Amino acid sequence: MSDDSRPSPAQVRAETGPHTGVAAVIPAAGRGVRLGPGAPKALRTLNGTPMLIHAVRALAASRHVTLVVVVAPPDGAPEVKSLLDAHALPGGTPSGSWGSTDFLVVPGGESRQESVKLGLDALPPGHDVVLVHDAARPLVPVDTVDAVIEAVRDGARAVVPALPLADTVKEVEPAATPGDPEPVVATPARARLRAVQTPQGFDRDTLVRAHETVTDDVTDDASMVEQLGLQVVTVPGHEEAFKVTRPLDLVLAEAVLARRRLNDGF
Ligand code: C5P
Repeated sequence: MSDDSRPSPAQVRAETGPHTGVAAVIPAAGRGVRLGPGAPKALRTLNGTPMLIHAVRALAASRHVTLVVVVAPPDGAPEVKSLLDAHALPGGTPSGSWGSTDFLVVPGGESRQESVKLGLDALPPGHDVVLVHDAARPLVPVDTVDAVIEAVRDGARAVVPALPLADTVKEVEPAATPGDPEPVVATPARARLRAVQTPQGFDRDTLVRAHETVTDDVTDDASMVEQLGLQVVTVPGHEEAFKVTRPLDLVLAEAVLARRRLNDGF
């Protein structure tokens, strides 16, 4: 059901005045089974620093982001809080802040969707734009973060960074046993497909309503907004915003960090 009769975020702002801050929710409660045995995925290290810390830094690098809510593994909130305090910017910023960005840590849930909802529930008032960013995308460039924020502030209710696909994609009838041959049922036109990344950006009220309304299992937040009948738009994604999922992705992420160090002249 479409609900486009509601005032858009731009109309609301025209009535209520200038921007408030941007908050980012980082779901980091996944086990990361596909990476193999070990610590929860967000706590695995890249060049000695936990992936989650890279992800928080990537979002705090945007001057618009004033609050980061990290959703920790259900029994890991105290550990994550100490980790964030230990890695906060040099210069003795107080516990619970990272330069000019505050952070909160809340325990997560069984599914990504539940974890994001728990993060949203913890958001204080005063943030009209909310980003949702996977801890598993630790290297997203700040320009991508800012492009998403700008598109929401320009009036979009939901924004996703997206890239064209290199591979042709087939829809299959999934086999009962992994590895068995699977019948192909369709080949969507590749030119119309996009691989979607995070941070995904939302007008806060829209995202809250999506999480209150949609109960189907989903793999991203924007699809919940689609289910409300509202428009989701893309902005260009970035190859460095890839999701660390398999062991090879850890190698690639460390190579990206090494390239950045070289380019920065360290
Ligand atoms: O499993 P997937 O790779 O899609 O997870 C994406 C993000 O969601 C990861 O950052 C993971 O830590 C997070 N997640 C979560 N709570 C869960 C499952 C996944 O916060 N129960």
